[in-house]
Amino acid sequence: MFDAVLLRFSGYALLSHTIEELFYSINSVHVLMEIVQISDMHIGSMFKQDAFDVLVREINNLEPDAILVTGDLTDEGLLSQFERARSEIQKFKCNNKIVLAGNHDYRHTGYLLFKKFFQTKQVYELDDDVIIMTLGTARPDRDEGEVGYRQNKWMFTTLSQYDGKTKIVAMHHHLIGIPDTGTDKIIILDAGDTLMACLQAKVDLVLCGHKHRPWSWKLGSLEIAYAGTASSERFRGFFENAYNIIRIENRIIQVDIKIVGGKRMALNSLVTDYANEGFRQRNEV
Ligand SMILES: [Fe+2]
Ligand SMILES: [Fe+2]
Repeated sequence: MFDAVLLRFSGYALLSHTIEELFYSINSVHVLMEIVQISDMHIGSMFKQDAFDVLVREINNLEPDAILVTGDLTDEGLLSQFERARSEIQKFKCNNKIVLAGNHDYRHTGYLLFKKFFQTKQVYELDDDVIIMTLGTARPDRDEGEVGYRQNKWMFTTLSQYDGKTKIVAMHHHLIGIPDTGTDKIIILDAGDTLMACLQAKVDLVLCGHKHRPWSWKLGSLEIAYAGTASSERFRGFFENAYNIIRIENRIIQVDIKIVGGKRMALNSLVTDYANEGFRQRNEV
């Protein structure tokens, strides 16, 4: 903690912070937490076991405080795929595994199986300072997502009780459209209401999967981070298996992307580079 405080007293940091902010830094709790988000494993014909094995080794070496799996564990919601998904996820050595369902998991009445294989709570208090809320967006035999009036209202009411804490909301479907991923007919139907509820409840970070494309949007203090596909060939616009690492320290959140078997970098830097390149390429077509 004192290292962080001393840094703030040095150089430009001193000029850019008010006395109140410095007192806040001294009095605040220094919490270092790492959460891994993996998504869209898609166990089925396009599942890449070799990539998943590398991913498991990397994440177990990281020893994160929590692992969040944001849906589409299976490709078709079949019993054999759920059995394999459970055994693959058991390979993670972590006491906090949070597993959400995606639209693919709800196919072929997979919503009945998901509940048998994975017990998901809606509120996880990781410590005194970090709360993760999960929202169910998958619906049987539908590709688009929906949060619903009651769940949105519940989210706002519940999260309002945790003011002063770092608030993370996780869901499978993407909350805002992502460039170069086709039409957005399968977005969350009531995305506007969900987004508004997140802003009003002072959510810091929303984590989504579904589009298989790492990305990030920022709306004021709210960041919406998307994970790519962890272990399938179902790439869209980004042709590497990847996952996200969320680091929380003194209530400051840093989201990194980690390419499976490759480098780790800030998700924002990837987005900036990709956005510039994509814009240039589109204008050359
Ligand atoms: Fe998916
Ligand atoms: Fe999906």
